[in-house]
Amino acid sequence: MQILNTRRHFLQTSAAVAAATTLPQWFLAESAQAATKPLGPNDKPGVALIGCGGRGRGVAREAAALGQMLAVCDVDDANLAQAQKIWPEAKLYKDFRKLLERDDVHIIVNGTPDHWHTLVNLAALKAGKDIYSEKPLTLTIDEGKRLVQAVRDSKRVLQTGSQQRSDKNFRLACELVRNGRIGKLKHVNVWLPHGRREGPFETTPVPAGLDWDMWQGPVAKTDYVKEKTHVTFRYFWEYSGGTKTDWGAHHNDIALWGTGFERSGPVSIEGQSLAPMIPGGFTAASEYAVAYTYANGVTQLTRSTHGNDWKGSVLDKAVQQHGVRFEGTGGWIFVTRGKIEASHGDLLTTPLPSSAKRLYASDNHMKNLFDCVRSRQQPICDVEIGHRSVTVCHLGVIAMRLGRALKWNPATEQFVGDTAANGWLAREQRKPWSYEMM
Ligand SMILES: NC(=O)c1ccc[n+]([C@@H]2O[C@H](COP(=O)([O-])OP(=O)(O)OC[C@H]3O[C@@H](n4cnc5c(N)ncnc54)[C@H](O)[C@@H]3O)[C@@H](O)[C@H]2O)c1
Repeated sequence: MQILNTRRHFLQTSAAVAAATTLPQWFLAESAQAATKPLGPNDKPGVALIGCGGRGRGVAREAAALGQMLAVCDVDDANLAQAQKIWPEAKLYKDFRKLLERDDVHIIVNGTPDHWHTLVNLAALKAGKDIYSEKPLTLTIDEGKRLVQAVRDSKRVLQTGSQQRSDKNFRLACELVRNGRIGKLKHVNVWLPHGRREGPFETTPVPAGLDWDMWQGPVAKTDYVKEKTHVTFRYFWEYSGGTKTDWGAHHNDIALWGTGFERSGPVSIEGQSLAPMIPGGFTAASEYAVAYTYANGVTQLTRSTHGNDWKGSVLDKAVQQHGVRFEGTGGWIFVTRGKIEASHGDLLTTPLPSSAKRLYASDNHMKNLFDCVRSRQQPICDVEIGHRSVTVCHLGVIAMRLGRALKWNPATEQFVGDTAANGWLAREQRKPWSYEMM
């Protein structure tokens, strides 16, 4: 009896401990939101930029025009100084966690390199912020699953920076395809600018003003190599996925919009790197071809082209230009930045009937986020769309690295019966960084 009583007491005590350490979701979500001052109907949202490189500064200018730029953060003094020139009144930070403690910042513009996107986004959500996050949204599929859940739990708004969704040409192409204008859709051709095949690179002293350890963050530490940092980090698999993820997050996103698989994905993938990388140089495939199949039998081929440079500018007019071509039983539609073409003229010129299914319309990607910050509606490129689009890219990178055909279940987000491939869904985080700490 004595033993029984003691055991009951122990059970009661341990239940009380469990209740005290595991806070319920609703409470966590509520307290996260309480960290940021509510936005009054006449207030301009407070904006902060984390990652002040070329792109971060570019999109932050758009955000600053709609809100009030309060703070900028970078781990490199040189880029921080560039941001300071644009917004002299903004407070400077070197650690994004300090910036996130501010209660007057409502919107974070995340312009960090790809390997930092998720940790910064998770921390911003926890601090009750809404987010404009640059694409490719994540470094791994596992990160995307975590982020989708965190956005849902915190009831925050996240716009993925795949801005082609807010471009009329791309919407028109996808609306026409979704409404059967090219007959039954059979195949999607996606061309991405080729990557860079260069090296070997030299190890040099870390430049003054750059916190190289913080720049690397959760990725395995290495000696400093200039090419690993600003802009060209995207050609290293360690920090990104080459143009397969950089441009894939734009054009594979459009492929998903047109096929209607934007909240799902392909069921099989087969990929090949078409050029060996130079030892000691860039590590992400520069030339490649990846074939996908969707559950309805539609196929997709995403490959690199030498028609364009890494920024998408024309390199060779005679060679295929980057973009997306939807091919059906009744014709094709090609769409890229600033251009839409079709196999025959009336495909584009005949209006859609009033019964047609129309897609989410936005003509300004940043303004769409600001509108949603007020309305609490989903933006045009919400977290799940951003995650599913970059998943197509990551699947291609994994297939190339494994060099064999893979089966994918988009519902469970697992490779089918393939332990080795499933091992590629996540990457180890270098301590002290972890998703759980954010
Ligand atoms: N949507 C688009 O069309 C588009 C275009 C270009 C770039 N991008 C994306 O924008 C992102 C940035 O690209 P970029 O070309 O400007 O790169 P960049 O290297 O010029 O800028 C990244 C900046 O982030 C800083 N940084 C790194 N770690 C940080 C940390 N922990 N905290 C704060 N700052 C940190 C770097 O020091 C650098 O200043 C990439 O993910 C890229 O894919 C999107």
